[in-house]
Amino acid sequence: MTQIGLPPSEIPMLPARTLLGPGPSNVDPRVLRAMTQGMIGYLDPDFTKIMDEVTDLIRRVYKTAEGRTMALSGTGMSGMEAGLASLLEPGDTVIMCVHGYFCERLVEIGNRVRANVVPLRSDWGGVFPEEMLEQELKKHKNVKLVCAVHAETSTGVLQPLEGLSRLAKDHDAMFMVDAVTSLGGVDVAFDDWGMDYAYSATQKCLGCPPGLSPVSLSERALHTARNRTEKPFTWYLDLAMLADYWGWGEQRVYHHTAPVSMILALREGLRLVLEEGLDNRFKRHAVNAAALRAGVEALGLDLVVPAEHRLNQITVVWAPKGIDEADVRTRLLRGHGIEIGAGLGDFAGKVWRIGLMGESSKQENVIALLSALERILPEVGFEVARGAGVKAAEDALTAA
Ligand SMILES: Cc1ncc(COP(=O)(O)O)c(C=O)c1O
Repeated sequence: MTQIGLPPSEIPMLPARTLLGPGPSNVDPRVLRAMTQGMIGYLDPDFTKIMDEVTDLIRRVYKTAEGRTMALSGTGMSGMEAGLASLLEPGDTVIMCVHGYFCERLVEIGNRVRANVVPLRSDWGGVFPEEMLEQELKKHKNVKLVCAVHAETSTGVLQPLEGLSRLAKDHDAMFMVDAVTSLGGVDVAFDDWGMDYAYSATQKCLGCPPGLSPVSLSERALHTARNRTEKPFTWYLDLAMLADYWGWGEQRVYHHTAPVSMILALREGLRLVLEEGLDNRFKRHAVNAAALRAGVEALGLDLVVPAEHRLNQITVVWAPKGIDEADVRTRLLRGHGIEIGAGLGDFAGKVWRIGLMGESSKQENVIALLSALERILPEVGFEVARGAGVKAAEDALTAA
């Protein structure tokens, strides 16, 4: 046999990175180890037991008794696409609350499923105003679905959901939520907040590798997906079929080959989330975010989002005018092994997006990033008071 590439013992590990961007975030070794447990058939009763366990763990993280939960094979976008394709039929009216880059994706996919999409656009960097939805709902007779993004990763805004949900319900519309960046980092209460469908992703606050989209459907949403006049254009992301695959029908029905190793990773990641405890985890995200914000402000940098609407898992910072923001990111990565994110859409070239999600939300990561920025920013022409960022963050951590 001819060896192609390096012998197994010499294959290098990936470079060590501190992942402080918008995801993926760092992964706990327990999760990585869970992925190497071996292989098992996807209809093996021992594996279907694991699927059941995963549905239960997802329910606990979404705080739902009612939700039909499962993990779609695909990243967060699969959850978004599955929801719109399965809950909407051509011509159905859907109102999208749009105030960032990922909200625009909802609009794009809604158009592709040939729904009657009503995008309501408000300013990036602010919360979506409930009054806009209220006014619009009055203009329509039959709105099937209202969509909102809980944690807009492009702007760093945490969107309050209860008011939007109540308005949707008052007009007998279903309520769909993007919880890609929120689940596991901040409270997500599927039942209490009246959600009909929510989707997330494994690589952000759940601390797993990318590859699955944990979702939850209300009884109404599942009934809607199962009782369509036309089948959805997508077979792979048909939520009715996937629900049967995940054991929500009379009997489990084969659909596709489960990504076994990823499901094992998710099980371990969710166990870690629940072992830490949801409230402790949210607090950890809040404390570390507060320290980061104190640090960046002490360096003379400005935050995009007003204090009351900031996300803890992603902090969006204006890059100072006149400096090359991409150069700063490259220096962080090459010189310090730290990744932070660039701006998207309207914010491209204007902001940095600093993630503190899941495993990456650690005090030592906050301090390492601020210390690296204190060195890099003067090199690119933005003077800072050396030591001020780290000190402000340490003071905030001590006070917490
Ligand atoms: C709010 C939000 N929605 C959807 C997505 C898409 O998820 P994925 O990249 O896992 O497909 C992202 C990714 O960053 C996101 O932040």
